[in-house]
Amino acid sequence: MGSAPEAFDAVEVIATKRDRRELSDAQIDWVIDAYTRGVVAEEQMAALAMAIYLNGMGAREIARWADAMIRSGERLDFSGLRRPTSDKHSTGGVGDKITLPLAPIVAACGVAVPQLSGRGLGHTGGTLDKLESIPGWRASLGTTEMMRQLEDVGAVICAAGAGLAPADRKLYALRDVTGTVSCIPLIATSIMSKKIAEGTGSLVLDVKVGSGAFLKELADARELAGTMVRLGTDAGVRTVALLTNMQTPLGLTAGNALEVREAVEVLAGGGPPDVVELTLTLAREMLEGAGRTGVDPADVLADGRAMDVWRRMIRAQGGDPDAPLPTAKETHTVLAPADGVLVELDALAVGLAAWRLGAGRARKEDPVQAAAGVELHYKPGATVRGGEPLLTLHTDTPERIPRALEALEGGVTIAPEGSRPALSPIVIERVA
Ligand code: URA
Repeated sequence: MGSAPEAFDAVEVIATKRDRRELSDAQIDWVIDAYTRGVVAEEQMAALAMAIYLNGMGAREIARWADAMIRSGERLDFSGLRRPTSDKHSTGGVGDKITLPLAPIVAACGVAVPQLSGRGLGHTGGTLDKLESIPGWRASLGTTEMMRQLEDVGAVICAAGAGLAPADRKLYALRDVTGTVSCIPLIATSIMSKKIAEGTGSLVLDVKVGSGAFLKELADARELAGTMVRLGTDAGVRTVALLTNMQTPLGLTAGNALEVREAVEVLAGGGPPDVVELTLTLAREMLEGAGRTGVDPADVLADGRAMDVWRRMIRAQGGDPDAPLPTAKETHTVLAPADGVLVELDALAVGLAAWRLGAGRARKEDPVQAAAGVELHYKPGATVRGGEPLLTLHTDTPERIPRALEALEGGVTIAPEGSRPALSPIVIERVA
C-alpha cells in the first residue's frame, strides 16, 4: 500500500512566491503541514523562506500562514481557570528583565499570567536563562503542573512544550541559519502562532526599536506591531502593542544573575526608574486587556504583595528565592575617559559585550554563564567625571574580557559638560 499522494509539489509552491505571486490558502496549509511531517525538505523550506523574505506576503497569506502554524501542534486551554489570563511578549532587547517583576505584579492584581518563554540567542538575553541562575529553579513543567501553578500562585514562567507550534520551532531554527530572520511576515507569524496556541485571553506586545532590537527603524517596528495586533485580534485574543526604546539597555544590568538581582530590587520597591516605568506601563495594559480595571499595579509593588507572588512562583518551580545568586570569578572596570555628559551607551554594544563575556550563546546547545554580564554605573544623560567607573564587566573566563572591550568600542560617547543629549522616552507609541 503506497502513501496518499501529496496535494502539491514543493517546487511549485516555491516558484509561486519566487515569481511574486500569492500563495493560495491550500498551498500554505500544505507546505506548513508537509514541512512539519518532514515531506518538504529543509532546503526547500529555506528557498521558500528566502522567497518570502524577498517578495513578502499579503495580509491574507500572513493570516493563513499563522493559522497553519498554530494547527501544526496543540493548543492550550485556560478557560477552566478562575481568573482571566494575560501574557506579555517582548521582541527581545538588552537588559530586558521586565517579565521577571511583571508576571508576579499582574498575578498579585488577580490576573493569571501564563508566560511561556525562551532562551537567549545572540546578543539578546532569554528569560529562562535568567531564572536558571536561581539555585534549583527549573524551566520545564508539564501542562498539569503549569495549570496547577496558575491556579495556586497565579503566575508561571516556563519553557514552551515541544507540542506548541512545532512548525515554528523547525522554521525558526532554519531561518536562524539562512539569513531569513528579519522578515516582518515571518517574525509576526512566528511570534503570534506561539502566543495564540498558548491560549492566553489577552496579550501585550513589547516591540523594541533601536540598536539593541531586531528592528532598528521605527517604521518597521510599527509595521510589525500592526501585523501582530491584527493576527491576535482576528484570533479572538485582545492584543495591543507598545513600541519601546531599545537604543540603550534597560536598567543597569545585562546578564542573567545580574538581571535577576535587579528584578528583585524592583519587587522590593527600588530598582532603576526606566525598569519600574516600563513594568508598570505593561502591567496596566495587561490588566486592561484582562478586564481588570480599578486595580493599580503600583500598589501591589509598594505593599509587598508582588514580592510574595514572586517568592511563591520561584519556590513552586524548585528555586530558592533566598539563596545567594552566583557571582563572577573576575570583574573588570571600565573608567570614564574624561569629564562630561554620557550621551550614548549603545544597547547593541553592551549586549554584544555581555554575550562575549559568557552571558549568551552562539549556538542553541551552548551553556551560558549565570554570573557573566555588564553592569552600568550611569545611564545616558548623566554627568560623569574622568576616572570614575562607568561599567563593570563580570565573567568566569577572564580571557573573554578583551573581546568584550572591543564590542564596547564606539558604543560609549561622552560629550563636553553642558551638552544635552536627545533622550527618547521609554514608551514611544501604542498600537491597538
Ligand atoms: N521571536 C520569535 O519567536 N520569532 C521570530 O521570528 C523572531 C523573534
